[in-house]
Order: sequence, then C-alpha cells, then structure tokens
Amino acid sequence: MSIEFDPTRPEVMADPYPIYQRLRAEDPVHWCPPLRGWVVTRYDDVRMAQRDARFSADRATPFADQRARDEQPDAARMGHLLAKWVVFNDPPRHTVLRRLMLDAFTPRAIEALRGRITEIVDDLLRSADGRPDIDLIGDFAYPLPATVIAHILGVPDQDIDRFRAWSDDLATVVGVSFAVPDRYQRGARALAELNQYFHEIVAERRARGDKGALVDALINAHDEDGSLSSEELVGNCVVLLFAGHETTTNLIGNGMVLLLERPDQLKKLRANPDLMSTAVEEILRYESPAHAVMRLAAEDFELRGKQIKKGDRTFLMLAAANRDPDHFEDPERFDITRDPNRHLSFGYGLHFCIGAQLARVEGEIALRRLLERFPSIALNADHLEWDLSLVLRGVHALPLSLKAAA
Ligand code: HEM
Repeated sequence: MSIEFDPTRPEVMADPYPIYQRLRAEDPVHWCPPLRGWVVTRYDDVRMAQRDARFSADRATPFADQRARDEQPDAARMGHLLAKWVVFNDPPRHTVLRRLMLDAFTPRAIEALRGRITEIVDDLLRSADGRPDIDLIGDFAYPLPATVIAHILGVPDQDIDRFRAWSDDLATVVGVSFAVPDRYQRGARALAELNQYFHEIVAERRARGDKGALVDALINAHDEDGSLSSEELVGNCVVLLFAGHETTTNLIGNGMVLLLERPDQLKKLRANPDLMSTAVEEILRYESPAHAVMRLAAEDFELRGKQIKKGDRTFLMLAAANRDPDHFEDPERFDITRDPNRHLSFGYGLHFCIGAQLARVEGEIALRRLLERFPSIALNADHLEWDLSLVLRGVHALPLSLKAAA
C-alpha cells in the first residue's frame, strides 16, 4: 500500500516518527505531493546527499526567480537576500563565506565563552525565582541563545526582544511552516527589517572603529580585502543571528519535554549530572531541533530506483535518519547514556553546523542549571503544541511549574 505522508497536518507532525519508520522501510525516497518534493529518510542516503554535489544547497536563487515569474516582488527580493547566506551557497562561494566565520567558533573560542554563558543562564533563572510557573521558551530558552549570539556578533543585548518577532516571521519561510498562509509577506518584511538593522549596526561599529566581535571581522573582510560584498556582510550577520538561536531554543525546550515525560531518565540525570553531555546528544538525536535540510537536484539522476529530475526539491529528513535501526540500536528508545551517538542533527559534510559546539555548551549549561535550581520542576500543560514546521522542530510555548504540587 502506498504511504501518504502529509506534514501539513498537525496530527502527523505531533508524532511523525511512526510514519518515518514506514517510509524508511518501504519507500525511503518518497515523492510527497503536499511538499512537491522528495522525502529521503534513511541514514545512509541523508548523509550521502549532504556531501554529494548532485544535491545543491543553492535553493534561494531558484525560489527568487520563480517568485519573480509569479509577480511576487517582495518574495523575490527576499529570495535574493537569502541567496547571500552561507547556508544557501555551494562552493566556491560557500567556501569563502564559511571561512570568514570559523574563527569565532573554534573549540577554544567557545570554551572561552563558558563563563559568560553561565552568567547569562543564572541571570535568566534568577528572574524566575519566586514565580510559581514560567514559559520555558519565552522566559529562558529563547533569550539565552539570542543573548549569546548577540554577544558574539557584537550587537546590544537590549535589542534581543526585537529579534524574536523578526526571527519568528523569518522562521515561517526558512523553516517551511505550513500554518502561516501569509508567510512570504511576513518573512519578506522581517528579512528587510533585519537587513536594515544590521546595515545600521555595521555603520555604527565601522564609524567607531570597534574591534573584537564577529561583525567587526566581517566588516574587515568587506573593507580591507573585498572578499565580502555588502549584501553578503549583512546577510551573514542575519544568518548567524537566526541560526544561532531558533535551533538552540528548541534544543533546550525539546530536552525539557523529553526529560519531564520520562521520569526514569530525569532521575538518572539528576543523580549523575556527568551524564549531561551524552544526554544532550540524545536529545539532539531523538527530537532533532533541525528536523530536515533541503536541497535541489543539480542534475537528473536515480536514487533507490526513483528518477530525480534537475531542480526537484529533496527534503533530507535528519529526524528520520536519527532513528534508523541500521545505525542506532533500539532507536525509538530515549537513552541519556547512549554512546556512540552519531546523529545527523547538525547536518553533515560541507554545511556541517558552524555553531554545533556552541549549541552543545549552551544546552549543557542551561539544562544543568535549570535542574539544579528547580528540583521539582514539572510540566504544566496537558497537551503540547508542536510548531507546524518541517525544518524547525519545537514547541512555541512550554509552561512549567517550578514548585511541587501541595
Ligand atoms: C541545537 C542547535 C543547532 C542545530 C540543531 C543546528 C543545526 C544545523 C544544521 C542541520 C545545519 C546544516 C544546514 C544545511 O545543511 O542546510 C546548520 C548549519 C549552520 N548552523 Fe547550525 N544548528 C544549531 C545551532 C547553531 C548555532 C548556535 C549557530 C551559530 C551561532 C549556528 C550556525 C549555523 C550556520 C552559520 C550554518 C551554515 C553552515 C554552512 O552552510 O556552512 N547553528 N546548523
């Protein structure tokens, strides 16, 4: 029987794992009419496609060209701005853009941030003291990575409240959200405003001659050696701001959901805080904040008997690959001690996440301090609503009570 996978339906995305299991086994390269694209679910295929030039990351330019043909000038303009982002480029441009960012994310640079990250975590948690409940996402999991990436980039902390609306609107496009009919208009407006914001930051920092933050290094690459155009300069500030927090927010949120729904695992972690790093890897594997990555076929070719045509969209389902029984023992079991754990949640190959180590450190510190400070933290909702997005997996709000019920 043919399989119907319709990720635009909330009940499917509330728990997509049973259907991923069937797709992996019965139709691992599946044509999905609602997505008008291929859905690839096996670990080996998902990994292979991320390092194979037949799968192009340059999906923003064709999007822009199509919107221009459809006479949607705002969406077309947005596509052209997105096309400057490192993640939407193939080599050789990708190599140049990526190299400019790497220095800010070396293991050494991230280790040096531990102290600052711990301070930000503790400040946020302190403001929850004395409150009976919080929304973990809005009160903690969103502001933490936003503040950290603002610090790395060199933008003022007090601006992070403005980023959330922009970033949420942009996420409806980049994250392929189905529930938002006007997502192109919202995304286009948000991206235009974010670009404008960074044009101003760049002008201010350049005028003051600021040094030391990532924006300054990018300004230097533009001004001194001309390796970066001004659209690329601004676009890659935006991608760092965006990639740097939407996903990490969901790592923290998904992690708390998983632990609170599995008291045995939570108890084990509380008793052995040294398990935090394997626990974070298992959270990443089991409920991958980046659920899928998208590519376009750069030529005609065949994959597992299916004819892929040049220009076809392919959705590489990281979340399905992460539960492939050929690579993970008992993959549907959430086990905070799992080791090795070679999940694909940070992607693979050329576009492997630049911020992976930063996200891990933020996730570990955040969950550790949260559990230490609130020994009786509990879910305060009967039902959680997962964002209806194919790419970004998380809950929009996570109500928690901080005190044990009387
Ligand atoms: C749990 C948190 C995170 C997850 C799950 C995640 C996941 C990913 C994935 C799957 C990709 C590959 C995208 C593709 O191939 O199309 C990626 C790329 C990227 N990520 Fe992350 N990410 C996280 C956190 C971060 C952070 C904290 C930053 C920066 C501060 C960041 C910056 C980037 C950038 C710049 C790229 C593009 C790299 C390239 O194209 O070469 N990410 N991320």
